[in-house]
Amino acid sequence: MIQSPLCRTLGIDFPLFAFTHCRDVVVEVSKAGGFGVLGAVGHTPEELEAELNWIDAHIDGRPYGLDVLIPENLPGAAGADTGMEAMARRIPEQHSAFVRELLQRHGVQGGTELRMERPTPFLPENAERQMDVAFRHPIRLIANALGVPPPSMIERARRHGIPVAALVGAKEHALRQVEAGVDIIVAQGGEAGGHCGEVSTMVLIPEVVRALRGGREVPVLAAGGIMTGEQMAACMAMGAAGAWTGSVWLPTRESECSETVREKLVAAGSRDTVRSRSRTGKPARQLRSAWTEAWEAPGSPGCLPMPLQPCSAARRCARSSRRPTAATHRRANSPPISSARASAW
Ligand SMILES: Cc1cc2nc3c(=O)[nH]c(=O)nc-3n(C[C@H](O)[C@H](O)[C@H](O)COP(=O)(O)O)c2cc1C
Repeated sequence: MIQSPLCRTLGIDFPLFAFTHCRDVVVEVSKAGGFGVLGAVGHTPEELEAELNWIDAHIDGRPYGLDVLIPENLPGAAGADTGMEAMARRIPEQHSAFVRELLQRHGVQGGTELRMERPTPFLPENAERQMDVAFRHPIRLIANALGVPPPSMIERARRHGIPVAALVGAKEHALRQVEAGVDIIVAQGGEAGGHCGEVSTMVLIPEVVRALRGGREVPVLAAGGIMTGEQMAACMAMGAAGAWTGSVWLPTRESECSETVREKLVAAGSRDTVRSRSRTGKPARQLRSAWTEAWEAPGSPGCLPMPLQPCSAARRCARSSRRPTAATHRRANSPPISSARASAW
């Protein structure tokens, strides 16, 4: 079985990390000997408490982690009031009309009203409250994406004796993260589902491994387009300490994806994804769809910066996920998932 020193640090059997928003995936991966990481973005503290209680009750004491996403740069949230109502007021009418017309054209009913009771997505203060909850549970790793984690995350992790991981898409970012005190680098190539940079996994992994050599020992996990054991082994041959995966778990039985999204993911080929700002305001890889194409087409008002774009778009878009033409779940630019299922990790 493939192993690396990180397995001993985290108490796992093999260095396969599963990023997921679904607690069942976290539990099954960790129970199988890998490391499940729950994505907390979008949860209220109360929801997160319930999710972590459920994981603690079902995971048989196996280790798991939490990922909070704290963007270092949030241009759309500048200003005093960052509540959902204030955000909604800042969405230009041209944008709202574009979304209304687009949904109507694709027969998506309703979905134009915002859920004011929800926290504004991606705000650092939400993440701080999530951390208050998370550190009351036996998490064994905390991860962050979209920039250097705030000092409070690093300090709290140190106090609890757990490592901090950070996702990066470029060598320079990896060096900055290590300088800030991050313990594990997730080098994520542009093939990855979700927010990603432009450097491919094949180029990024050896580049980051080489850049960090000679300094403090910081393991590098490879991410982006990894669906099979062969790809994981290849990344480890390039110096990675393991694989950090996301898209491969989306169509599994344990995932929360709707049937429509699941079918689209399995049917998609390696040319069916696009890196688009249309979901969150920052470039994120996802399935190409009527939604992503409309934002690129002539007549589009252009995407708003994070977090205004997800206020205006993602919540409405999410409701359309049962409609085949509009379903647009993020996934990696990689071999069809059916082939990943067939191959042993
Ligand atoms: C649907 C989806 C949502 C994601 N959301 C987050 C997130 O909230 N925080 C994060 O650190 N990474 C997020 N990621 C990125 C994953 O952590 C991981 O790096 C990526 O999925 C790896 O590439 P792969 O999808 O090709 O396996 C997301 C990925 C996907 C597919």
